[in-house]
Amino acid sequence: MPDKAEHADAYTKQSRLVHGDWKQAELDYSHALTPPISSSVTYSMDSSVFGGKRPLEFLMELDDLSKLPFYIYARFDDPTWSLLEHKVALAEGGETALVFGSGMAAITAALMANLSAGDEVLYHHVLYGNTHGLMTGRLPRFGIKTLSLDFNDQQALAGAISEKTRIVYLETPVNPLVNLVDIAAVRKVVDDAEKRLGQSGQIQVIVDNTFPTPFCQRPIEHGADMLVCSLTKAMGGFGVDLAGAIVGRKDIRLGLVMFREETGGVLSPKAAWNVVTFGLPTLSVRMRAMQASALEIARFLDDHPKVRKVNYPGLESHPQHSIARKQMRDFKGNFAPGSMLYFELDTDDDRAIERFTGHVGDNAYCLSLAVSLGHTSTLVENPYNMTHMLMSEEDKEVMGLKRSGMRLSVGLEDAGDIITDLKECLARI
Ligand SMILES: Cc1ncc(COP(=O)(O)O)c(C=O)c1O
Repeated sequence: MPDKAEHADAYTKQSRLVHGDWKQAELDYSHALTPPISSSVTYSMDSSVFGGKRPLEFLMELDDLSKLPFYIYARFDDPTWSLLEHKVALAEGGETALVFGSGMAAITAALMANLSAGDEVLYHHVLYGNTHGLMTGRLPRFGIKTLSLDFNDQQALAGAISEKTRIVYLETPVNPLVNLVDIAAVRKVVDDAEKRLGQSGQIQVIVDNTFPTPFCQRPIEHGADMLVCSLTKAMGGFGVDLAGAIVGRKDIRLGLVMFREETGGVLSPKAAWNVVTFGLPTLSVRMRAMQASALEIARFLDDHPKVRKVNYPGLESHPQHSIARKQMRDFKGNFAPGSMLYFELDTDDDRAIERFTGHVGDNAYCLSLAVSLGHTSTLVENPYNMTHMLMSEEDKEVMGLKRSGMRLSVGLEDAGDIITDLKECLARI
């Protein structure tokens, strides 16, 4: 049979996400257009697996990636994970990917596997609520110092980097405000600081790429060492499974495989199969459709008298529109501002805000009052009282999160219908 993988480079990422690499090392999937789901927790071990060595001896010497994947136990590695990992690495432009049981499990692994007591983490001050909780609550309990600052202030970032800094962590666009961080600028600040400190490769720049997905932005192309993402959102696309991934250079793989095995935050192969079969093959068409609607909706909101401000990277009025144009590009290089937007109602009256969210929750047909994002359904949430409610008032103030702020994840409904619903909700305030 001809090896179709030989020609794969000639095709777009859109097509390659549908087909994957034709010839799989793990199993012969050549004849199955839809791969089988692996469902084995344990594997029989013949001597060929370990090259004639005893299993423990083999494991102790495992420093060569070419020996992976091999399957012994489903918390160590799994064939359906491998299929998903190939596709995620391809989409994001990384050398390797590792999948986890949720986005938070991936973020925890990316941080904890690279940190020890005494190390320092710098993070951009606007973050997803649970990541913020990890930074402010959990990591410090293990002797890791975490420091929040605005990465758009490059002088402040440069000044904060010390010989103890190990991770510089950010999201862009940020959750929930949909502001941006210039990844290439952060890379440069980190490189200059390393030179100044007389060190190299001590600091990892990690970017959470959940909001844009690789369809809109590939952080490694802009200088990130590693990225983390939730596959629960637009990558999975249908809201049926929690999943997450880390993508980076191949030398991260072994340490993270061991971290994943030892901490156990693993993905069900059935969930991995859903992302391989439904999520990634449809990513480009879903993102293109949701993004086109997002621009229409952003323009509608921008013109509406009851909306104080709209943050959508596709609007020229977005304060970092030029960064968006440089950094957010689809697989073919077209401007790709994504499907997420944030807007503030033009009121500070709690009752009026509740009337708006109440109408979203109880009456609007296309809109759902719900956390999560990247779903086929359009989701609206009030971060101040929902995803970011556990943050202190002071932290909310510093990051600029207002009570009247709404996060909107545009789905696959007709854009005109979504606008009709938003008009009705806005009429309630
Ligand atoms: C930006 C971002 N990163 C990570 C996560 C966590 O992902 P998961 O829910 O899959 O753990 C979320 C969840 O909303 C998110 O918005």
